[in-house]
Amino acid sequence: MPSPKKKIFCREIKPHLEQKAEAAYCSLPRTLLEKRYKRLIKFLESKQSEKLGQGCSREVFIHPFKKGWVIKVPFPGSLRANFGEVRTARSGRYPTAKCRMVSLFDLPCVEMERVEIISTPADFGIRREAELAKIRAMTGKKARWQDWFDEIDCHQIGVTKAGKIVAYDLGDKR
Ligand SMILES: Nc1ncnc2c1ncn2[C@@H]1O[C@H](COP(=O)(O)OP(=O)(O)OP(=O)(O)O)[C@@H](O)[C@H]1O
Ligand SMILES: [Mg+2]
Repeated sequence: MPSPKKKIFCREIKPHLEQKAEAAYCSLPRTLLEKRYKRLIKFLESKQSEKLGQGCSREVFIHPFKKGWVIKVPFPGSLRANFGEVRTARSGRYPTAKCRMVSLFDLPCVEMERVEIISTPADFGIRREAELAKIRAMTGKKARWQDWFDEIDCHQIGVTKAGKIVAYDLGDKR
């Protein structure tokens, strides 16, 4: 059970309230969002949450409270990617890492299960055979290339602890 202190700083944004929350967050002044962003980054540093990566719209850290999970912190000008991601994940269009929206230090973040990364935009362009070899090495199965991999921007897919191949970045999907 989370301690009451953690509850104050990190609370779920329930699916039926996401749309309202998105509009409210996006209408906040940029200076306020930047202040909150700096405060959250400082907090994660104080918790020694390792930074795992960053993209165009988010920075990703080890979750400060949940083992085996990551937290996706939006850049102040890119709040919508997180909302889009959880919405698409819920639609069931693609197998996706488990995720949900939370408000952490008053910023809309995604909590996502940590995956072992197969491809990122930085190494996209490695041959499909190389990606498949990686998948097979990770899952220990005779995995096959699946059509939906090509629908994910830069094949941003990974493998969960349970050995499932999932998308981990749906931030550009609408
Ligand atoms: N669930 C996860 N488990 C482990 N690492 C992750 C996870 N999600 C993201 N990362 C790492 O963080 C990086 C940035 O995350 P993500 O791709 O979600 O951000 P983004 O801003 O949407 O990126 P892009 O520039 O591709 O739009 C990834 O490239 C990956 O290295
Ligand atoms: Mg990405």
